[in-house]
Amino acid sequence: MEKFIVEGPTKLIGHLMVAGAKNVALKALVASLLTDDTVIIQNVPDIRDVHLMVEVLEHLGKRCDVKKDVITIQNNAPHTCTVPLEVGARLRASSMVLGPLLSRYGKAIIPNPGGCRIGARPIDRHIDGLIAMGATISYASNDGYFHADAKNLHGAEISFEKNTHTGTETLLLAAILAKGTTILHNAAEEIEVDDLISLLNQMGAQIERKGKREIVIEGVEKIHGTTFTIMPDRNEEVTFAVAAIASKGNITVHHSRREYLSAFLDVLEKVGGGFEVIDDDTTRYYYKGPLVATDIVTAIYPGFMTDWQAPWALLMTQAKGESVVHETVFENRFTYVEELKKMGAQILYFDPDVSRPEEYYNFNWKDRPLGTHQAIRIQGPTNLHNAVLSVNDLRAGATLLLAAIIGSGKSYLYGIEQIDRGYEHIEKRLNEIGSHIERVTEDALS
Ligand code: EPU
Repeated sequence: MEKFIVEGPTKLIGHLMVAGAKNVALKALVASLLTDDTVIIQNVPDIRDVHLMVEVLEHLGKRCDVKKDVITIQNNAPHTCTVPLEVGARLRASSMVLGPLLSRYGKAIIPNPGGCRIGARPIDRHIDGLIAMGATISYASNDGYFHADAKNLHGAEISFEKNTHTGTETLLLAAILAKGTTILHNAAEEIEVDDLISLLNQMGAQIERKGKREIVIEGVEKIHGTTFTIMPDRNEEVTFAVAAIASKGNITVHHSRREYLSAFLDVLEKVGGGFEVIDDDTTRYYYKGPLVATDIVTAIYPGFMTDWQAPWALLMTQAKGESVVHETVFENRFTYVEELKKMGAQILYFDPDVSRPEEYYNFNWKDRPLGTHQAIRIQGPTNLHNAVLSVNDLRAGATLLLAAIIGSGKSYLYGIEQIDRGYEHIEKRLNEIGSHIERVTEDALS
């Protein structure tokens, strides 16, 4: 077990390079299952979720050679169609192998997908789509596996009831080698989906965005290998932007994709956060004076992303006045709140007045656990201080790490494997620009 010991407060000043997008890298690795040819993926972040996906692919018969940020995937052993529980249950995106396995081999057995503990996160929308394409899928509660079969996966016209990012990608991956045309209505528009589409088309797939939120996939018999460079991680960029401003510092971000951050930059400007365009892919984020409070509501693309709300809430603890953060995509993404309160943050939960919550929220309203709240009120500014903190999900973890950096005194962060799931060598990179973070391995018995 590892923990971070963080000595604050520090200003973060310097240059950071944004790593490749986690939420593309994982799916690009899955795409390699669609062909026997070699697939080379570049700009892959060195993070725990990628390591887990490599394990999944190796169990399924691939060999993955990792050299720095390049992964070369080749056939290695006869394929299998089962993802072991131990790996799959720790990685939500592992369920995406359903598409390639069903379309190529007609069979897939996958554990109930894991990942961040940010709500129930069912995969009913993925499953319904695969069933419409001819799959038979059952969930065996006695072994925790989904058992899926499809003799002939075929195209279908599928309308998602609500947005689903990985659900859209799962059906894309299934439809490429299915017989006939698949039309996805109300498909996700997140830019990471488009990066995956670029890779798949480069491999020979025929995928096209047509109308608003509509994707058309013409099934093909075979696709081939390729070399593809994945886009930078815009969620990491937002984390760095908040790091700069919350610490009253100044960070120049390289490999910036600010063109996909307008929902963030608009509100950053409104609260008085500084950013400067240096060139096409370089942006400087800096503290330019006291911040003012504002309200945000998370939304699907092109709105203010759910992945940004935790770091944003930290920023608002430093702003003058009362801010509101209303989470509409996931039902349980405030696990950092009790931890920030330990550091002195003034935060109260509440439930906004929403007339038809079952339609308004992106998650399934019926899945929401009793006692969960969808919004918080933050009173600022607050001088945060040290605490012993527990990390429950990826973005919450990055937020608490930043809170410990700007808070006074020595903080202890437990559960840091959640941060390692999506941020490459985070303490090394932040220490290079001024933080004092030590990774300590704890003896399980001590
Ligand atoms: N949902 C269902 N049923 C489904 C699918 C989704 O109820 O079949 C609900 C989910 O429980 C959730 C909401 O709908 O409440 C949104 O789910 P979606 O499928 O859009 O999200 P996801 O695919 O599980 C991906 C990213 C998340 C990111 C969201 C939003 C990956 C591996 N994960 O999650 O990234 O927040 O889209 O863009 O791509 C992260 O990087 O930390 C992260 C959580």
